[in-house]
Amino acid sequence: MRAFAGRVAVVTGAASGMGRAFARRFAEEGMRVVLADVEREALDRTVAELRAHGHQVTGVPTDVMSRASVQDLARATLDVYGKVHLVCNNAGVEGYLDGAIWEATERDWRWTMGVNFWGVVHGVETFLPILLAQGEEGHVVNTASMTAVVRATNMYAITKQAVLAYS
Ligand SMILES: NC(=O)c1ccc[n+]([C@@H]2O[C@H](COP(=O)([O-])OP(=O)(O)OC[C@H]3O[C@@H](n4cnc5c(N)ncnc54)[C@H](O)[C@@H]3O)[C@@H](O)[C@H]2O)c1
Repeated sequence: MRAFAGRVAVVTGAASGMGRAFARRFAEEGMRVVLADVEREALDRTVAELRAHGHQVTGVPTDVMSRASVQDLARATLDVYGKVHLVCNNAGVEGYLDGAIWEATERDWRWTMGVNFWGVVHGVETFLPILLAQGEEGHVVNTASMTAVVRATNMYAITKQAVLAYS
């Protein structure tokens, strides 16, 4: 995709960090951007900040661990902007990082895998059929990590290796 102006981007985990940076950069390229994040206050702040710079952006509170929530995000995107061209499955957590892997609880696995891996799966399953049906240029970008290509030493790395393999 070489032309960005007027096209529509969706970024998960957009309230802070790299997601916020992606959203700002896409908006600066003239894209209309949907920012999704589970942290409502931070999301509102980031959306307000981008609007103050004259950018066309919308915030949609979203929990990527939930397929239904990601489907709501897609519906909201199409309701507001009619199309979607670029989807960044960026939301991620360090999750269960330092403890022994055999001591991790089911809750640790469900949270860390839920955001980092299932969040990406939900994003792809929900948005890729829309992109394909549109028949226009489009991209899905799944954020992994350098830990995806070296020996996994913790749960975070396991989730990111799964994201790389899936992608
Ligand atoms: N920062 C790094 O050095 C680095 C390196 C490699 C990969 N990454 C990956 O890049 C991505 C962004 O990292 P970052 O450093 O900007 O992190 P960050 O913590 O600054 O931002 C992550 C965002 O995701 C949101 N989020 C968390 N759980 C969510 C959920 N269930 N649903 C929706 N949003 C949720 C958070 O609220 C936060 O705004 C992550 O996937 C991370 O694993 C980061």
